[in-house]
Amino acid sequence: MKSCPFSVVSFVFVIAILLPLVFSDLNSDQQALLGFANAVPHRRNLAWDPDTSVCSWVGISCDPNRTRVTSVRLPGIGLIGSIPPNTLGKLDALKALSLRSNRLSGSLPSDITSLPMLQYLYVQRNNFSGDIPASFPLQLNVLDLSFNSFTGNIPQMIRNLTQLTTLNLQNNSLSGPIPDLNLPKLKRLNVSYNHLNGSIPSSLEGFPNSSFVGNSFVCGGPLKACTLPPPPTSFSPPAAPPHKSSKLKLKMGVIIAIAAGGSVLLLLLGLIVVLCCLKKKDSGGTNVLKGKAPTGGRSEKPRAEFGSGVQEPEKNKLVFFEGCSYNFDLDDLLRASAEVLGKGSYGTAYKAVLEEATTVVVKRLKEVVVGKKDFEQQMEIVGRVGQHTNVVPLRAYYYSKDEKLLVYDYISNGSLSAFLHGNRGGGRTPLDWDSRIKISLGTARGIAHIHSVGGPKFTHGNIKATNVLLSQDLDGCISDVGLTPLMNVPATARSAGYRAPEVIETRKHSHKSDVYSFGVVLLEMLTGKAPLQSPGRDDMVDLPRWVQSVVREEWTAEVFDVELMRYQNIEEEMVQMLQIAMACVAKVPDMRPNMEEVVRMIEDIRQSDSENRPSSEENKSNVQTPDL
Ligand SMILES: *[C@@H]1O[C@H](CO)[C@@H](O)[C@H](O)[C@H]1NC(C)=O
Ligand SMILES: *[C@@H]1O[C@H](CO)[C@@H](O)[C@H](O)[C@H]1NC(C)=O
Ligand SMILES: *[C@@H]1O[C@H](CO)[C@@H](O)[C@H](O)[C@H]1NC(C)=O
Ligand SMILES: *[C@@H]1O[C@H](CO)[C@@H](O)[C@H](O)[C@H]1NC(C)=O
Ligand SMILES: *[C@@H]1O[C@H](CO)[C@@H](O)[C@H](O)[C@H]1NC(C)=O
Ligand SMILES: *[C@@H]1O[C@H](CO)[C@@H](O)[C@H](O)[C@H]1NC(C)=O
Ligand SMILES: *[C@@H]1O[C@H](CO)[C@@H](O)[C@H](O)[C@H]1NC(C)=O
Repeated sequence: MKSCPFSVVSFVFVIAILLPLVFSDLNSDQQALLGFANAVPHRRNLAWDPDTSVCSWVGISCDPNRTRVTSVRLPGIGLIGSIPPNTLGKLDALKALSLRSNRLSGSLPSDITSLPMLQYLYVQRNNFSGDIPASFPLQLNVLDLSFNSFTGNIPQMIRNLTQLTTLNLQNNSLSGPIPDLNLPKLKRLNVSYNHLNGSIPSSLEGFPNSSFVGNSFVCGGPLKACTLPPPPTSFSPPAAPPHKSSKLKLKMGVIIAIAAGGSVLLLLLGLIVVLCCLKKKDSGGTNVLKGKAPTGGRSEKPRAEFGSGVQEPEKNKLVFFEGCSYNFDLDDLLRASAEVLGKGSYGTAYKAVLEEATTVVVKRLKEVVVGKKDFEQQMEIVGRVGQHTNVVPLRAYYYSKDEKLLVYDYISNGSLSAFLHGNRGGGRTPLDWDSRIKISLGTARGIAHIHSVGGPKFTHGNIKATNVLLSQDLDGCISDVGLTPLMNVPATARSAGYRAPEVIETRKHSHKSDVYSFGVVLLEMLTGKAPLQSPGRDDMVDLPRWVQSVVREEWTAEVFDVELMRYQNIEEEMVQMLQIAMACVAKVPDMRPNMEEVVRMIEDIRQSDSENRPSSEENKSNVQTPDL
């Protein structure tokens, strides 16, 4: 059980009060936040360290100049009790506040709802009570007070919030009439399950009946007609969304006809494509080049070949790393039965099965730009940093002018990419949430290890989901360590979505650019989406930007992989992981955490998790306590 660093917090607080200085605004923001953390108990440790910049704290973000705190997002961290005035209410540059899914109670302080810059306020799923404060800034975009215990009327003042796009008030105990909200931008409205009465104003008739249900005395509009005609209120045109037109229904028949015809055509096309592919595969499989046929029963397997550039095998031997238990030589390797595992930007990978059933992966590098000496030096470092359970170990290498081969352990489960994107909707078992956390944590540990052992200059440079391999017990292992500096790899579309903005500009890699790439892998894991939405098109949107745009509107739930929706009680963890990922893909390298910090943050998810999680899958998950 972790406890809040109470003494540190209060110590700094005292210092802050004693110093008779005029603080800059960022400092007063910091004080307000510490005051809040101090006064409101929370189940999860925030670990807000007063010695680090407030802008790097969990859940906090600042304006680009880092002069003010502009957003506070603390969903589902077990905040309990009431919010004292003069804490969060002092963050007067705040644009977004999310405290949803906590156990906050008491009244919602009006200094929060009237913050002058506030655009997004999410306090749903707490137990706030009392009246809804009647003070909101006019530019408010989203107001979500749903699933609380608010009472009283819906304030008329909401009619003045012309920028409002979302108003969620469902599942409270509000009473009185529904105000005539003639708000041009309002897209989402929900006042269901309250004690409201009266007729639905004509300006809101365009919303579906599920926006109003559960109020036994509300009538009109999409619900059953009121027994008495409602008094004329206004003749304003209905707000969005528009009514469904009957024209649409008429067209339906035509559309169905077209679709039916089209699908027959598609079916034919598909058949032709499949036939072509089968034929191609046939001829490709028999593409055996050099070397003897493999022994006995293996001969029917398609066989690939990777050693055609090996010359004078006497002089250029396979170089093994210390501690490696393999005892084959280059000849054995070249004789092994091999099949292509995949072609990557660095070359082709083969699965090679030697005699005595030893299986290894041989990578045949292309476009190596360094000479033998530099190559050997780099291999020496790679051998050293590869000694970690979450790094795919390099066992041996071969270097000659015409051929460069790397020998790795064979990791049977394939890559994270294949697990996430392969055969969606087919017979594949989706990767469950526990596995995803475990893989993320393992991979983060592997990267943190190579950063700390390799030193500040040693980067991975090519972190992506296809380079995250899954071990037998579904742990994440990072592969292709240390290859980037050897290669002259053109900016291929394949790794494009993973590259940090500064790498695209300068082509220089750093630990922080690795963190960015890892953040993209996390987003991929959370969303199930590929890092580039529509590769090759001009208007393509990369995953970080897409997620940012969605999260800014706080449709957070829409971000997550649909395959994760089947699991219970994981929303808070997913949001936490999302926050870590978003920190990793910050545009400015200095604002990204380092890998050690990322590891700690992911570990925190698991730790706070194992304490209380009424999850249905607790039995089958093999939650590992971090081995510290
Ligand atoms: C950031 O600083 C620059 C120059 O100091 C200023 O022009 C700009 O308005 C500032 N931006 C914000 C968001 O404060
Ligand atoms: C919510 O607060 C009300 C008092 O305002 C209390 O009666 C109720 O039990 C609380 N509900 C929960 C779930 O804590
Ligand atoms: C809302 O706007 C009306 C005029 O449009 C104004 O009379 C009223 O005072 C405003 N209410 C609030 C609470 O600002
Ligand atoms: C919302 O309120 C309705 C009516 O009381 C109830 O049926 C529903 O379960 C509530 N939803 C949640 C998530 O509490
Ligand atoms: C709504 O309920 C209040 C009391 O709760 C009552 O005074 C008012 O007349 C009702 N309005 C309508 C339109 O039924
Ligand atoms: C409004 O909230 C209720 C209760 O949670 C839900 O059943 C309904 O689908 C929501 N309606 C809309 C339009 O979101
Ligand atoms: C809401 O509308 C749907 C169809 O539009 C209808 O099936 C349903 O019965 C309605 N529910 C209520 C409570 O009016």
